[in-house]
Amino acid sequence: MSNCAAFPNAGGIRPIRYADGILSLLDQRRLPNEELWLEYSDYREVAEAIRSMVVRGAPAIGITAAYGAFLGARAIEADNYADFMNAFNKICEVLATTRPTAINLCWALDRMKSLAQANAEQSPNNLKIGLEYEAMAIAEEDVRINMNMGRHGNTLLPNKVKILTHCNAGALATGGYGTALGVIRAAVAAGKQVSVYADETRPFLQGARLTAWELQRDGIETTLICDNMAGYMMAKGEVDAVIVGADRIAANGDVANKIGTYTVAVLAKEHNIPFYVAAPVSTIDLKLSDGSKIPIEERDGREITHLGDQQLAPTGIATCNPAFDITPARLVSAIITEHGVAKGNYLEQLAGFVRQSR
Ligand code: MRU
Repeated sequence: MSNCAAFPNAGGIRPIRYADGILSLLDQRRLPNEELWLEYSDYREVAEAIRSMVVRGAPAIGITAAYGAFLGARAIEADNYADFMNAFNKICEVLATTRPTAINLCWALDRMKSLAQANAEQSPNNLKIGLEYEAMAIAEEDVRINMNMGRHGNTLLPNKVKILTHCNAGALATGGYGTALGVIRAAVAAGKQVSVYADETRPFLQGARLTAWELQRDGIETTLICDNMAGYMMAKGEVDAVIVGADRIAANGDVANKIGTYTVAVLAKEHNIPFYVAAPVSTIDLKLSDGSKIPIEERDGREITHLGDQQLAPTGIATCNPAFDITPARLVSAIITEHGVAKGNYLEQLAGFVRQSR
């Protein structure tokens, strides 16, 4: 029996469902206490769901935006191509401004727009059908891509390995299976002895609430630690490898990911621990030469001063809440994609992977 069969949930949950014009999202703000599914049929509400983090994680944001674009298109009342495209582009613009850092959002919307542009001879009704299929294809492909990433990433891991991860780059952050956690799932499925340290990931607690929840659900040995414990665990020899996801990777291999990732990468370098990034090719932005050009989302300071309704800090205190940071390519041991593993000269290898995907 393979390990996959031993773990009935080994593929992880699928947080985005779609059927008959209704998009259902698992409300990730409520996890782990409640599994609440919210239903959407209006693109403006989908945009708000992305903005307010009902759904989060770069690939999941892209998939959701693609469905949002279709739901918007479905309601367009136009009888010619020009009017349809005029309205459709406006819908895509609204969705594109929901979160700035994850490039998968614009990637998915560009793909939806390209489909419409390539079919200018079609009626608005046929375009709507095509867009529905395209959104479903983006969602399905994502799971396959993650499984391929898992296969490639698994080759980097020894038979017995303690892995530290930051934020949630799991099934919940994707169409299913996950990027960083997909590599972990693949290693478990290959029969390796894997244990995971999950950083809690202040201030939104994606590690404590989401990574801990989905790995526990899969029966994968997981220990939750506070972010400021990572260095101590590394110094004690408790961490053999770090694997994280990414929201955007610049052409030179600089990586934008959840705030705190850079700190973990510096610590990993100090302790000679490999630091791996797992991300689909849709996360690579060749238009940006390096990480300094990646827009970093700044979120409400209330995420720091409060825990839910409970106030933790004095009223009126100044806050700074960047949601992501940049890890320079020199700290990244390898970038794992669905096409293979890039190491060393990222500029050429990442461009090659992007060409392969076209
Ligand atoms: O703010 P979030 O929760 O959307 O941030 C998510 C991350 O930083 C993930 O690590 C990244 O999107 C990769 S998800 C496969």
